[in-house]
Amino acid sequence: MNRIRVAPVPVLTLDGPSGTGKGTVAAAVAEHTGWHVLDSGAMYRAFAFAANKRDVGPDNPVALESVGRSATIEFWVTACDGIRIIVDDDDVTEQVRGETAARLASRYAAVPAVRAILLTRQRAARRWPGLVADGRDMGAVVFPDAALKVFLTASPRVRAARRYKQLKNKGFDVNLASLESEIAERDEQDSVREASPLVPAVDAEMIDTSDLAIREVVIRVLNLLEEALPGSSSGGQHLT
Ligand code: DC
Repeated sequence: MNRIRVAPVPVLTLDGPSGTGKGTVAAAVAEHTGWHVLDSGAMYRAFAFAANKRDVGPDNPVALESVGRSATIEFWVTACDGIRIIVDDDDVTEQVRGETAARLASRYAAVPAVRAILLTRQRAARRWPGLVADGRDMGAVVFPDAALKVFLTASPRVRAARRYKQLKNKGFDVNLASLESEIAERDEQDSVREASPLVPAVDAEMIDTSDLAIREVVIRVLNLLEEALPGSSSGGQHLT
């Protein structure tokens, strides 16, 4: 019998803490390659929103499994409004983008039952021609066979300043000093948890983005991707 070996859908994982530029870099790399994007942080935010709405706290794994079965979480790609986050048929994009929702997401994200539910959904996002997966444990846990794993870092001050600008642009009322301490607290919570803590995969390429413009980070990632998977970085639009 002839066997046909089918190559797996290629994955690029982009992990790191908040404010390192992951989301922006993921979107730019996806545009350039023509690959899909998985924003796993948005999945955790949406799940936390759904559980909270049903009054199910992070300390109730059995009820959380039922949230996993009953909640519908969708991402709609729109032409003029970017990606919209839909939970139980309601557009909750604005509600889940702020720091309060992020703190809530971080608490639910520490629960192994929640991670198991979302792991299946995250792996289901792997589709041709490829996937750029943005998160905390994409390289270490979710896609261990990724073609390229990148872990972004930046100094706490730079990360807080970036997040401040991002939230201000979205119309949130934020304070830089309290944002810096909230980010530090969330990083600590994400890093010390037992289930999939925020740590780079052993085979990840580290990029410190503190003194780099987004464009420079994107070029570095595309160059690394071209080395790892020749021909992969030219499927979509070209950088101008
Ligand atoms: O990337 P973000 O800020 O949208 O993520 C929100 C929270 O979700 C973050 O504090 C930790 C959690 N998260 C996670 O535990 N694992 C992921 N792969 C992505 C996010």
